[in-house]
Amino acid sequence: MNTPSKKLNIAVAGSGGREHAILRKLRQSPRAGTIYALPGNGGIARDGIPCVNISPANTPAFTAWCLDNAVDFVVVTPDNPLAAGLVDALSEKGILAFGPVREAAKLEWSKAYAKNMMRQNNIPTADYAVFTGCGAALEYAKSAPYPLVVKADGLALGKGVVICGTYETAEDAIRGAMEGGRFGESGKTIVLEEYLCGPEVSVLSFCDGKTIVPMVSSMDHKRELDGDLGDNTGGMGAIAPNPFYTEEIARECYETIFLPTLRMTQKAGTPFKGCLYFGLMLTSDGPKVIEYNCRFGDPETQAVLPLLESDLLEIMLACAEGRLTPDMVKFRDGACACLVLASNGYPRKFDVGFTISGLEDAEKLLRPSNGAFSGEVYCAGVRYGGRVPAAISGKLYTSGGRVLGISAAAADLQTALSACYAAAGNIKWRGIYYRRDIGQCAFDKKTP
Ligand code: AMP
Ligand code: GLY
Repeated sequence: MNTPSKKLNIAVAGSGGREHAILRKLRQSPRAGTIYALPGNGGIARDGIPCVNISPANTPAFTAWCLDNAVDFVVVTPDNPLAAGLVDALSEKGILAFGPVREAAKLEWSKAYAKNMMRQNNIPTADYAVFTGCGAALEYAKSAPYPLVVKADGLALGKGVVICGTYETAEDAIRGAMEGGRFGESGKTIVLEEYLCGPEVSVLSFCDGKTIVPMVSSMDHKRELDGDLGDNTGGMGAIAPNPFYTEEIARECYETIFLPTLRMTQKAGTPFKGCLYFGLMLTSDGPKVIEYNCRFGDPETQAVLPLLESDLLEIMLACAEGRLTPDMVKFRDGACACLVLASNGYPRKFDVGFTISGLEDAEKLLRPSNGAFSGEVYCAGVRYGGRVPAAISGKLYTSGGRVLGISAAAADLQTALSACYAAAGNIKWRGIYYRRDIGQCAFDKKTP
């Protein structure tokens, strides 16, 4: 089906800022035919991209819709549909997809599996033990060094990790997961893990099952408040490249982590295809894996893709078809920052339904005529008030915790950050909240 001249109808699964960034990039490809988002969001609809209200986790409905609408290629990025086997279901119907099959995505949906695989393959990671019974876990916690990290085995919306300073907090976390059902089925098995410290680095990579090509590195800002205080969130901002990730460290990671991980997936009979995300910590003992995600990170993607010079669609097709080569993936020099604008109260309780204003002004500001920087506003928790697909006149309303991502790329990080904050100053809704210190650690060079 993939003859070079044919335009492809594409469906992107998901509804976040990450998907908006992917869609904007895919749209630039000369090979892109009609692009759909399932379910997409109001900001994606505002771009004129048809949004179809089908959940990607409903694999039969999603697959049937793709067949009915002559979709040639599907991009699957959220964790749930990957764990539900959407890529498997599509391929059974002969539809090509970017993303790992369910068994390959196990590196993300089972932390116990990922840890055991790393140990067997000598991939540097924190020491750990896996438990399926509460008594044995508590016994282990009594004599373990502190802080101790308690992790639910399965997907837990980014909330399955508790860093415990004392036995009492560890006992609460262990009992809460294993007896209290705090994370549902995801917490029936837990991993108890050594606490590591050092700067964190996110490295997304393209994989086709045989070849792995790392993208430019990035840094997430996971905590809610300035100074890395407050609760863990999905991510309040990102910068790329990561200032702590030197060329020397990159070489070391490639040799000791990236390549061995790809080989590990081949040996297991689940060669990884798609985007493999390495969550790394640069410890005094060398880089170690904190986690694998089997998908693009969010907001990291919103800081990484604006620096990609190559055709994203061609790269994704090459990954899916097993013909990826390093020369296909080119990033431009310079830096990119992404600032997340959130609803006040996120990641806890927050209100939605407020009118968003100032988006056009922000977008204008992000495209200066002198080209000193260039930026985009990506939409996440956004609902569209107008017709869909529609003219730009319809109003946008908040509908989620993370609402917008403002990304700007420039020759240097300071220019990129200043552009993001200047654009953010134009955007208003009742209860808008964002961190004021995204990227600051790059100048302080202290661990975020
Ligand atoms: P994860 O969901 O595995 O990405 O964990 C969420 C966050 O918890 C990470 O980004 C780290 O900041 C922190 N974390 C996870 N594991 C460890 C560890 N072993 N030592 C220290 N911090 C950790
Ligand atoms: N930003 C972290 C993640 O996507 O899981």
